[in-house]
Amino acid sequence: MHLPKSVTIVEVGPRDGLQNEGNFVPTEQKIELINRLSGTGIRRIEITSFVHPKAIPQLQDSEEIVKRIERKPGIIYSALVPNEKGLERALAAGIEEIVLFVSASETHNQKNVKMSISDSLRGFRNIAEKAISRGIRMRGYVVTAFGCPYEGRVPQEKVEFIVEEYKNLGVHEIALGDTTGMANPAQVSRMVKWIKPRLGKTGLALHFHDTRGAALANILAALQEGVTVFDGSIGGLGGCPYAPGASGNVATEDLVNMLEEMGIETGIDLQKLIGCAKYAREVIMKDLPSHLIHSGKICWEGAKLF
Ligand code: COA
Ligand code: ZN
Repeated sequence: MHLPKSVTIVEVGPRDGLQNEGNFVPTEQKIELINRLSGTGIRRIEITSFVHPKAIPQLQDSEEIVKRIERKPGIIYSALVPNEKGLERALAAGIEEIVLFVSASETHNQKNVKMSISDSLRGFRNIAEKAISRGIRMRGYVVTAFGCPYEGRVPQEKVEFIVEEYKNLGVHEIALGDTTGMANPAQVSRMVKWIKPRLGKTGLALHFHDTRGAALANILAALQEGVTVFDGSIGGLGGCPYAPGASGNVATEDLVNMLEEMGIETGIDLQKLIGCAKYAREVIMKDLPSHLIHSGKICWEGAKLF
């Protein structure tokens, strides 16, 4: 099996996870969750979104989140930005990485941001110019890259078109999103083989929702194709309010467990991560789909009796 030596995890729970919660999670608790995540060894955390507060009421406290979290040196904190207004707010709050997002499916983009794909991309040009002139890093999501709940199959050419635009804008990394868990491992292998030679120096990350239980299998397929950056959501929190049937990303602790057990370094303390997942469960006051939160770490000494 061809596997990388190490993998970078991008924690997206505070944004992708919490954006879909029914009840508003108090700002203090969001900050506490992010601060605890910062103590696990995770190096990248997507903490909030500068979208319209009516579109995502859960994240209406984004300014406060960015200003009040404890910034740990060596960790990159990022936030979603849909348009120029979002960029202005993100810059004023003091974010160091912005995350652009556009769907590879026209219907999903329209529902999500009330714009056509080409209008989203046109808007990104001004955003990118301003961000780059201020030394702000940019990541670009291709949402519904593996399938769309409205349109079904998404032609690879649509993904390629957005990838080309992102490269021209100067993003450091492109994240292909399986927003409603439609991907399978064979499709992931094909997609990665196809897209990698087109990326040049731009990095590739994959973002899998576990809607149909295939996220870890998809990650294994991607690892074998040499992908080394994956998104995870603490506890498996999440979904997309504008994609029917969306559920959370693969739980970060389940992903870290699998990788570390396979001998792939993540630099993350699994026990601390499970502690964060338990805190997230306390905060949202309901159970989470994570496996490790229930099973705990493997004990190879065999001392633990159930
Ligand atoms: N933050 C706060 N306010 C914003 C905003 C932003 N990023 N973008 C626009 N607005 C305000 C405008 O200032 C304007 O206010 P006004 O009426 O007081 O002048 C109003 O919203 C309408 O502006 P418009 O550009 O027409 O926005 P819209 O209503 O078409 O909404 C988005 C477009 C992108 C802002 C909205 O659909 C959105 O935030 N979607 C995010 C969806 C999301 O996060 N999905 C999950 C991630 S995959
Ligand atoms: Zn997502």
